[in-house]
Amino acid sequence: MNHGDILQFPPGFLWGTATSPTQVEGHIENEWTNFTAQDGGNCRIACDNYHRYPEDIDWLARLGTNAYRFGIEWSRLQSAPFAPLNQNELARYGDLLDRLKAKNITPMVVLHHFSNPPWINAAGGWTNAAAISMFTDYVRKLVAALKEKVFLWNTFNEPDTYACVAYLLGGFPPQRKWKLGEFRRVISHMARAHVQASRIIRREGIFAGRKPEVGIAKNWTFFHAHQKFSPWDRLTAFACHYTFNKFVLDAFLGGGRRRASTFIGLNYYGRVRFHHFRALIPASGAPVKTLKDFGFVCDDMVERYPEGLGKILAYLHRKFHLPIYITEHGAASSDENFRARDLRENLAALHGAMAGGVDVRGFFYWSLLDNFEWQFGYTKKFGLLAVDFTDPKLPRTPKALAEAYSQICRENALRV
Ligand code: FCB
Repeated sequence: MNHGDILQFPPGFLWGTATSPTQVEGHIENEWTNFTAQDGGNCRIACDNYHRYPEDIDWLARLGTNAYRFGIEWSRLQSAPFAPLNQNELARYGDLLDRLKAKNITPMVVLHHFSNPPWINAAGGWTNAAAISMFTDYVRKLVAALKEKVFLWNTFNEPDTYACVAYLLGGFPPQRKWKLGEFRRVISHMARAHVQASRIIRREGIFAGRKPEVGIAKNWTFFHAHQKFSPWDRLTAFACHYTFNKFVLDAFLGGGRRRASTFIGLNYYGRVRFHHFRALIPASGAPVKTLKDFGFVCDDMVERYPEGLGKILAYLHRKFHLPIYITEHGAASSDENFRARDLRENLAALHGAMAGGVDVRGFFYWSLLDNFEWQFGYTKKFGLLAVDFTDPKLPRTPKALAEAYSQICRENALRV
């Protein structure tokens, strides 16, 4: 690859952005409603995308994207287990989908993104196997209602992150700590729900001969030892890899379960290195100066590791032979040059993997907007558009990266 090269992507490649309901919509009744983040913020208004989605869709079109990955919030649609879908809320999502269609933007709908209806949580959340049939009932009804408008379905977003931060690290509701048994139960139940929901979608989501696509979004993080020869560093890295990568992939895609999915969604941010039991990343509170001294390149969350993207794509391709979407990649930083470099490096790695034969169908930038970043609140700036949270009108303003990404989307190519 030389300076001045143009890395062209295949025709029909999807260039999108991603959001999730709790992080952008506001006016939600789920386990996050009464959660206070580390910065004192909450998600009650967030970006008010619940009301401002027409404006946000105009932004998607202005950016030149041709795809949008967003979630439908389960707690809006069912007020009790097995209840009929709320028709007003369904109509709002229907309108959102119609507006996307009018702009030629392909939707990818996420069914579960770190949030549940209150009645699911009251019954023990996903530690309770009862959640499986409640979820599949919801999916069946939603697919029947939206199959004309949606053919790309993403069942669970990052089940590994959800189960880990909610049941091991205590960062997400219900803020349980070191409950390894609960972690494993949540993953197993979600995996069973994924397989059943995928079958429903593939059978019942066909519209006018068009077959739906379905998959999970797996967050892949590389876990490495800081000091190669330290047994503690290696042990921690291996334990994390085993628990969050191997166990989770096996649960969702191992054995015959692979056949339920038509694609794999990959959320890729980078890597975590361990010194003894300590994660050397900003998100765990490691001092920025120490990380710099070690020579680590980090955004405000994790270490960047673009070479890793090629490796994990090749691995997933070899192991599962399924098409892949990069369902999330992005960086949180107030330094737009840093973010632009990070995007270019990761897209170059993606292009390289595709040139090597990996079937990747699309890329979704996390995120369209600065938003409610879970336990961190509003301090992590992932948006292509800045949102002024001090102004009640929540105005959106494109950042420099929006311009750069827009060019990539429009040209279907990366200039290096
Ligand atoms: C992913 C989540 C997404 C957002 C980004 C930064 O783990 O899916 O909601 O928090 O990280």
